[in-house]
Amino acid sequence: IPVDPFDYVVFGGTGDLAERKLLPALYHRQAAGQFTEPTRIIAASRSDYSDEAYRDFAREALDKHLNHAEREADQIEAFVARLHYVSVDAIDNRGFEDLKALLDEDPTRIRAFYLAVAPSIFGHICEGIRDHGLITENTRVVVEKPIGRDLDSATRLNDTIGEVFVEDQIFRIDHYLGKETVQNLMALRFANALYEPLWNAAHIDHVQITVAESVGLESRAGYYDKAGALRDMVQNHMLQLLCLVAMEPPHSMEADAVHDEKVKILRSLKRIDSANVDKLTVRGQYTAGASSAGAVRGYLDELGDESNTETFVALKAEIANWRWAGVPFYMRTGKRMPHRVSEIVISFKPVSHSIFEESAGRLMTNQLVIRLQPDEGVRQWMMIKDPGPGGMRLRHVPLDMSFAESFKVRNPDAYERLLLDVIRDNQTLFMRRDEVEAAWRWIDPILKAWEDTGQGVQDYVAGTSGPSQAIALIERDGRTWHDGK
Ligand code: BG6
Repeated sequence: IPVDPFDYVVFGGTGDLAERKLLPALYHRQAAGQFTEPTRIIAASRSDYSDEAYRDFAREALDKHLNHAEREADQIEAFVARLHYVSVDAIDNRGFEDLKALLDEDPTRIRAFYLAVAPSIFGHICEGIRDHGLITENTRVVVEKPIGRDLDSATRLNDTIGEVFVEDQIFRIDHYLGKETVQNLMALRFANALYEPLWNAAHIDHVQITVAESVGLESRAGYYDKAGALRDMVQNHMLQLLCLVAMEPPHSMEADAVHDEKVKILRSLKRIDSANVDKLTVRGQYTAGASSAGAVRGYLDELGDESNTETFVALKAEIANWRWAGVPFYMRTGKRMPHRVSEIVISFKPVSHSIFEESAGRLMTNQLVIRLQPDEGVRQWMMIKDPGPGGMRLRHVPLDMSFAESFKVRNPDAYERLLLDVIRDNQTLFMRRDEVEAAWRWIDPILKAWEDTGQGVQDYVAGTSGPSQAIALIERDGRTWHDGK
């Protein structure tokens, strides 16, 4: 469905996010026929570019980040014709008048400002936007993570943005919420009668959430070494996944209804602090090893410095509410794991009594595996009888639904959905202020406990599944990590 015409202003328009994600995502939406005229994308950054030079930058970005079949010369030219460039230095308060001159004067036209810049500049940009009268009745602002590095800095950042924009205008992106399978999690839970009656502590033994990456530091040492896996992945993406698994059914898909339920989960997370941090968390850091592409260096070597930053974290979380009491949520995420795999595993309780002889084989539990990437899909593991006349032999097999095979459509990148949700004024897949702050409220005591107890990082060899302590974290409880192959 086409959206109304808009002006998207991307601060940080020459940066990495714009190049890798935003320009390709907007291109795809245009190719899908969703733009109506006159839609424009205005890149802003400190560099001096002409419109033409920026269009070349965009052509190169598309060339690099689209595959062959996606590159259509006509579409690319139509897309770059929408691009404009304006040089803005928010710290020096320079360039906002040029931006104003470029923006459409119609006050009802949709205007979105995307802040793809370091959070330290958010305040300057917001003030520039306000002081130069760029906020119309149809203006929105989009902010990227990291929203703070603890509760205090997140609150200050939210205050700064909140001085200029009201909450309804602020879209806080967590790109995991735009992933197809993450949205499918809501469809699975709330569009099927099958699961919801079982979705509680009476029937579910535990939940696992794994986000494994095969990449290492990439070129982000400056940011990553100050953040670490807990801030970089758990505070946002993993807790958002946990919320979608655990929340009560919202009364509708309306944004506040969903946000309200997510906040309740974040507030119900049992506190982890110095008293229990060593039992409930494991920090890891990769050493030299191998990836599928060959030998890779260790984290310290890549960084070129000493560091106690974790590139892996495993946690055992618990949600203290009626539905989930006593059900552990095991989470783990790390860089330089063997494969890129993100999945959620819902592990059901065993049957209460087995009627089968020992010779039938071991009864395994039902598991629902929701695969976010790659090979998006859902697998329900069941016990069945082994076919054939050989008597009753039981087997654990998956009912398998691969989205790629079932639908044969391109899987859109998360940003495609989210960028247009901003235009549609739909906040459901974004984070409300209280959600971000509630997440930090749970993370802060963990960070503090690590500091107070001096909990160091455990080594793991690059290309393996994290330190052995992470395996012990779950095996101590008589459970094992799902092998995401
Ligand atoms: C980002 C993190 O938010 O998510 C990165 O900062 C991480 O460290 C990335 O690599 C993972 O996203 P995706 O979509 O590739 O799973």
